[in-house]
Amino acid sequence: MVVPGSQHAEDKMYHPPEGLQKDAHVPDFNCYLELYKKSIEEPDVFWKEVASDFYWKKPPTGHVLQYNFDVTKGNIYVKCMEGAKTNMCYNVLDRNVKDKNLGERVAFYWEGNSPDHHVAITYSQLLGQVCRCANVLKQMGVRKGDRVAIYLPMIPELVYTMLACARIGAVHSIVFAGFSSESLCERILDSQCSILVTADGVYRGEKWINLKQIADEALEKCKEKASATVKRCLVVKHHALRIKSGDVSNEPQTPWDAACDVCWEEVMGQVSEQCEPEWLDAEDPLFILYTSGSTGKPKGVLHTVAGYLLYTSLTFKYVFDHQPDDVYWCTADIGWITGHSYITYGPLANGATSVLFEGIPVHPHVGRFWEVIEKYRVTKFYTAPTAIRLLMKYGKEPLQKYDLSSLRILGTVGEPINPEAWHWYYEVVGQKRCPVVDTFWQTETGGHVLTPLPAATPLKPGSATFPFFGVDPTILNEHGEELEGEAEGYLVFRRPWPGIMRTVYGNQERFENTYFKKFPGFYVTGDGCRRDKDGYYWITGRIDDMINVSGHLLSTAEVESSLTDHGAVAEAAVVSRPHAVKGECLYCFVTLKDCREFNRTLVDELKRQVREKIGPIATPDFIQNAPGLPKTRSD
Ligand code: PRX
Repeated sequence: MVVPGSQHAEDKMYHPPEGLQKDAHVPDFNCYLELYKKSIEEPDVFWKEVASDFYWKKPPTGHVLQYNFDVTKGNIYVKCMEGAKTNMCYNVLDRNVKDKNLGERVAFYWEGNSPDHHVAITYSQLLGQVCRCANVLKQMGVRKGDRVAIYLPMIPELVYTMLACARIGAVHSIVFAGFSSESLCERILDSQCSILVTADGVYRGEKWINLKQIADEALEKCKEKASATVKRCLVVKHHALRIKSGDVSNEPQTPWDAACDVCWEEVMGQVSEQCEPEWLDAEDPLFILYTSGSTGKPKGVLHTVAGYLLYTSLTFKYVFDHQPDDVYWCTADIGWITGHSYITYGPLANGATSVLFEGIPVHPHVGRFWEVIEKYRVTKFYTAPTAIRLLMKYGKEPLQKYDLSSLRILGTVGEPINPEAWHWYYEVVGQKRCPVVDTFWQTETGGHVLTPLPAATPLKPGSATFPFFGVDPTILNEHGEELEGEAEGYLVFRRPWPGIMRTVYGNQERFENTYFKKFPGFYVTGDGCRRDKDGYYWITGRIDDMINVSGHLLSTAEVESSLTDHGAVAEAAVVSRPHAVKGECLYCFVTLKDCREFNRTLVDELKRQVREKIGPIATPDFIQNAPGLPKTRSD
């Protein structure tokens, strides 16, 4: 709690620079308040204005948002732009190329793992590649409504494939290319994907990861567990070759099964660059993205076409105050929601020019981020607190070698940002010229829900400040009572905004139980939150069995179950421990079966087991022998 009148560091406000306010979309706090009021009091008027920027094959009928958030009154549902027909891909590509004449504008500067590998892709080129990919998918039998699993690194083909799905009405399910074969298999089976799109592999720093082999293992596991759903595998076969300067003798071996595998490089040249978009209902599904669930099994979060389009485009425009001369860079991987909303859909819907980065922050040197900012004259930069803390460790020197004067706005996402990291970001990276937009949101929310607007909101380091337009937050106590003024409790939302998830794929009951059952009438985020005397919101962290490691949510139950799968382990309990770079890390207690010995070898085996079952992000930092674990009574 804030003690009224105390001189907390958090009370210090950082005001937007005047230079930024001049041409900003939302130039001051009063303007934010007026627009916010309109979005809450007249949502139809507000969202119809936003929608008028886009192409609708058929305009909507009725209210923009229809919903039920109260489980006691029936099924939970949200509908946006009911009756309308549109296409996401048309709106983010054709509309820019044909209606706005932006065909020659660069959509992406792709920057590879090594600084020698880069390519610029214009909006016209992007449209052509997306149409080709859409035709390839159609040839492979993909139809409207089919699910397509995508297991690709950060290469342009990832964007081509997701937009190709959006064009033909297929539902993409992107699996982060750092996940294990087991995790990929689980996701493929849950959403019954008919096609898998992958690549030969990827370099992470110096290390070659053979993605095709992992993908093959996943498909084998799918066959063992169920009648396999995936019939064909589209493979970007020569990514390694492309970045190895054409030296075939050096190309890593890619396992190949001619009966199932289709070579991307071969088929893309054989199809047309034209493909009519499929006109979809506003509420048709756009994609599924899995996020950790507290029971251990990941949840397939489902987003739909029209609402997600409106919400990601508007949040991108306002939160990064998008201007036509911007070069924007979000360092996330498209395998996470941040990449879906703020590398692909939001920026493209605004005709933005972005950097698409395959690499990691410390390869080939620790100044890599700063080098990329200088190279492309990046104006808006969006990253995670964990990356900031990692780079802080190397001090100011690596930054001082580069010209960062192009930067105008800095963003952060994924976890609470500690004051030390905030100040370093603001003072050292942004040289006190650039507001830091601390954006709070979730896979489920589709886009930012609590966030400053850079030219309008006075900042307090560590606070995600105020709700975005259309978002109606409140704080509840354990009994579900709304708390006014300064308060701390459960962060919930009273009503939907266009970008909120629609269901858990194939499991409406889980959707209602997870997000709506505890407090009928509200969407429950699972986060704790405090409101200070000035009305600022401060996220205090998860209040369920989820641990946020480097900005990635992990379920303690999922890690516990991969530990107990080991023959030596009788029971396991996983808790969070603070970590200087990752924010939180996994501390695991294991109770061994009789006559098993706890030693270094076993610890290494257990760590490897979790890596293999879930993926490297879930590797435990600590494993401790616990001859007995405390139990809660469950009677
Ligand atoms: O706990 C919150 C934290 O990340 C969770 C959502 O994780 P995920 O669905 O993987 O999406 C991450 C990227 C949007 C939230 O429930 N979180 C996210 N952003 C912030 C945050 N915690 C504090 N401050 C943030 N800005």
